[in-house]
Amino acid sequence: MEMKHRTGSGFDADAIDHTTAADLAAVGSDKWTRYPGCIGAFIAEMDYGLAPCIQKAIDNACDHCKLGYIPEPWKQRVAEACAGWQRSHYGWDVDPSIIRVVPDVLEAYEIFLRELVGAGNSVIVPTPAYMPFLSVPKLYDVDVIEIEMLQSGDAETGEAQWVFDFDAIERAFAAGCHAFVLCNPHNPIGKVLTLEEELRLSDLAAQYDVRIFNDEIHAPFVFEGKHIPFPTISEQAALQSMTATSASKSFNIPGTKCAQVLLTNPADRDMWAVKAEWSEHQTATIGAIATTTAYNEGDLWFQDAFAYVCRNLALFDEQMRERFTGVGYIKPQGTYIAWLDFSPLGIDDPAAYFLEKAQVALTDGRSCGETGAGCVRVNIAMPYPLLVECLDRMFNALHADGLL
Ligand SMILES: Cc1ncc(COP(=O)(O)O)c(C=O)c1O
Repeated sequence: MEMKHRTGSGFDADAIDHTTAADLAAVGSDKWTRYPGCIGAFIAEMDYGLAPCIQKAIDNACDHCKLGYIPEPWKQRVAEACAGWQRSHYGWDVDPSIIRVVPDVLEAYEIFLRELVGAGNSVIVPTPAYMPFLSVPKLYDVDVIEIEMLQSGDAETGEAQWVFDFDAIERAFAAGCHAFVLCNPHNPIGKVLTLEEELRLSDLAAQYDVRIFNDEIHAPFVFEGKHIPFPTISEQAALQSMTATSASKSFNIPGTKCAQVLLTNPADRDMWAVKAEWSEHQTATIGAIATTTAYNEGDLWFQDAFAYVCRNLALFDEQMRERFTGVGYIKPQGTYIAWLDFSPLGIDDPAAYFLEKAQVALTDGRSCGETGAGCVRVNIAMPYPLLVECLDRMFNALHADGLL
């Protein structure tokens, strides 16, 4: 399928289409070098290079030696740029003064666990989950309560949806858990929450005095429905949540280390002033420069990257329905990640299976929670021809074993 290249953004779909696995390995990312000779589909990075405006800003920073410790004006520029993006993309008129910087979203999660949850307490993580949501709490002596997402509707007709198990969530709240991890859009299942779901979660949280770590890093990637920032649904939700986001997924700059925390609870701002100064200080100046440029100038590039991902998703979805019949799959509504369940085919460890038999590197579903046995997480944001090859390799391995 040909993709029209929109002029002006600098997103070069044609060049990406011609990028080979060897080219990507030569660039040297973890995704393309950890398993030599394999297609890397396990780490959540896009293989689409850097927006030219970001490249220029980074070059300019290097030329002018702007690489000292992060100064206050750059923190403010990030906050203003982030607020601008929230306003123009999701209609959230957020005051930049409540936005703080951290090196990455996980640092914000660590602060949430350390300062708001506290050792000896617990946090609910709906599963399958982004892997560190499950592993990091242990570092802070916080117990994880895994609550499996449920499926409603008919997968055969393509109508199946992921839904929260609100009964199980309420039981855990009632038993004394006062913290919840919301990931919206949800990595790895691609769920995008509806307003009704957000309101229901917020009301339940209010009933049991629950704080919510709200990760909206994948917000720009929504294919179905729309992204509704959780703190915007009510004053109550704003007080419940500590929100983290970053330009890192949408512009592929996670290595530049600059995420943002939106502190919509005034008490969190007081806590932050005392407890988070060191985290802010570790944020990279080059990341602040890249992030500010991404939010202020990168939208056209992002729109083209989004269109490229949509084309990949169309291919992936078609093949899952028509070629990979029997594999558990619900079309993602957001993110560039998909979740596949191979247990109906009797494969216990599909990550190992595809690594060995197809030379495709996927994330082992078990690292996303107990419910992930027999499942894998797939990143589809690679060059389109490589996605074609990736799916062919996976299909051929299953076919050779008589499983498809
Ligand atoms: C849901 C989610 N949160 C956070 C991260 C990591 O973000 P950061 O590098 O800013 O910690 C990822 C990366 O894949 C992610 O998918």
